[in-house]
Amino acid sequence: MLHQDIERILFTEDELRTRVAEMGAQIDQDYVDRKPLLISVLRGSFIFMADLVRSITRPCTVDFMAVSSYGAGVTSSGQVKIVKDLTEQIEGKDIIVVEDILDSGNTLHYLLQILQARHPASIRLCTLLDKPSRRIKPVEADYSGFSIPDEFVVGYGLDYAEQYRNLPYIGILKPCVYQK
Ligand code: IMP
Ligand code: MG
Repeated sequence: MLHQDIERILFTEDELRTRVAEMGAQIDQDYVDRKPLLISVLRGSFIFMADLVRSITRPCTVDFMAVSSYGAGVTSSGQVKIVKDLTEQIEGKDIIVVEDILDSGNTLHYLLQILQARHPASIRLCTLLDKPSRRIKPVEADYSGFSIPDEFVVGYGLDYAEQYRNLPYIGILKPCVYQK
């Protein structure tokens, strides 16, 4: 069972639901006369994205992008690769980049540069989790669900070696799982 590898639950399903609804309401307020394009950074943000867009009540569109920076380890390599690019053109659009977690900032620093070069009207960053103590690159989120300590977390879309994404809550992975 996946649950046995979890040291402690950080955010329950209820806590996630409540916070994500608040974030959606905030986006609703901030984009009154605009139709934002939400860009989910795959794969980690897919569950957050699905819940977030359902808590936004105004018109919006979605697109998906995949980048890789980790391999199977637990620290960012600093080398970021676009694995899947957007389908939509973003020039002149109000885009919101939706991420699961902002850690060193390597991934987003690179990604935001690429997106900026395509001249969107505006660009904001929405992350469910933030580990500010780990930051190497100067990246700040406009919308941040929770600040967390420097622990490796999984669930609600976040993985370790592609597993645990299907846990409905977010929990700290037992270090013995990745120190094997
Ligand atoms: P960064 O480039 O170091 O900011 O890492 C960002 C990416 O690393 C995230 O989008 C996640 O995919 C992954 N990541 C960072 N910390 C964790 C964690 O605690 N659990 C699972 N994935 C993580
Ligand atoms: Mg990710």
